[in-house]
Amino acid sequence: MKPMLNFIFHNPTKVFFGRDTIRQMAGEIPKDSRVMITFGGGSARQNGALDEVQTALQGYDVTWFGGIEPNPEYETLLKGTGIAREKNINYLVAVGGGSVIDGTKFMAAAIPFSGAPFLLLDNKGSDIRRALPVGAVVTLPASGSEMNSRAIISRRNFMVKRAIMNSSLFPRFAVLDPTKTYTLPARQTGNGVVDTFVHVLEQYMTYPVGGAVQDRLAEGLLHVLIEEGPKALTHPENYDVRANLMWAATLGLNGLIGAGVPQDWTAHRIGYELTVLYGLDHACTLSVLVPAMLQVRAQGKRHKLLQYAERIWHVVSGSEEERMEEAIHKTRIFFGSMGLPTRFSDCDVPNVDIDRIIRMLEEHGMVNLGENNDVTLEMMRKILELCL
Ligand code: NZQ
Ligand code: ZN
Repeated sequence: MKPMLNFIFHNPTKVFFGRDTIRQMAGEIPKDSRVMITFGGGSARQNGALDEVQTALQGYDVTWFGGIEPNPEYETLLKGTGIAREKNINYLVAVGGGSVIDGTKFMAAAIPFSGAPFLLLDNKGSDIRRALPVGAVVTLPASGSEMNSRAIISRRNFMVKRAIMNSSLFPRFAVLDPTKTYTLPARQTGNGVVDTFVHVLEQYMTYPVGGAVQDRLAEGLLHVLIEEGPKALTHPENYDVRANLMWAATLGLNGLIGAGVPQDWTAHRIGYELTVLYGLDHACTLSVLVPAMLQVRAQGKRHKLLQYAERIWHVVSGSEEERMEEAIHKTRIFFGSMGLPTRFSDCDVPNVDIDRIIRMLEEHGMVNLGENNDVTLEMMRKILELCL
């Protein structure tokens, strides 16, 4: 077995967790700041989050920027960037789900950048030198964006959805008030649980490196999602359920469980193309792709898949092949029970053009994905065919 990988773990985001915590943000923002508060369509106004932010920031020079859409669009973010520059904004507070937080992180890098902002999307964001400080108030637990250095930005005109990562993009603080998630529609609750589940899988379901701490942490999160996820659908205003899902989402992608272990991210990368082409919700791309991907890649993931079968789904009888099959089946059933599609035929997509998806992956340089860089376009085609 290979040894655990060397790692540096540094996460600078300060977390305020719990009921009525939005008010605590003011202490984090210098008093003379010119703050831009960013949000999406209107959910944050309806559930009171924006009012609480406004109250918390009384006395600050505040500018509002709404309309950041799901899968945040570059063009929208440029508008926000322009307004922020005009108003000399020097602090950003994002109120929403992953899209608002990601979009705001991008703006934080774009505002002080003197070149063409699309350059910030090149080289996976590694060229970013500076970003304004960002605070995040989470209303949809899913992306983990509130405590990580990633942002995923779409440019529909160019048919691309791209991930960037840069240490300057960590939010300075994240406010996690579970009561602000009570208003989530079932679809978004399900999306959040499945996205988080797959974030854990992308960092867990690879090959063993003796990372017992990482494995047990990841398995703990998966158990919580399986136990609490369905309860959130039937009891959307249960504080404990929402609190556990919220903390699980943050810990699922804040660097902790992925430190020192190999990571995959194939499903995410193929999923971006599906969102660009067919407008599928991010989590739905994953719920369709992951069961098929595990089937096609079962041999390469054999050890961890068997461990997952036993420790997560308590599958202990039958041949190794049967146990792996059963674990994949149970995963698919779980995604379905959260209301997500697990095949293209469950989605509102009339004709899935696999050739086109493969062409796009190739154009975007996604030709060797996965923890071993051995997921070829041919393998991706097989995965997509199994999703039909
Ligand atoms: O726009 P509003 O009105 O706010 O409505 C949103 C949106 O329509 C709504 N919503 C959010 N909080 C709500 C609510 N509705 C009722 N009550 C609330 N409390 O939910 C809808 C979806 O929001 P969105 O932010 O798009 O969802 P999510 O958090 O799932 O974010 C998805 C984006 O995150 C990216 C995805 O690619 C996608 O673009 N990701 C970001 C990651 C990261 N930065 O590390 C990692 C992830 O893998 C993911 O790729
Ligand atoms: Zn995701």
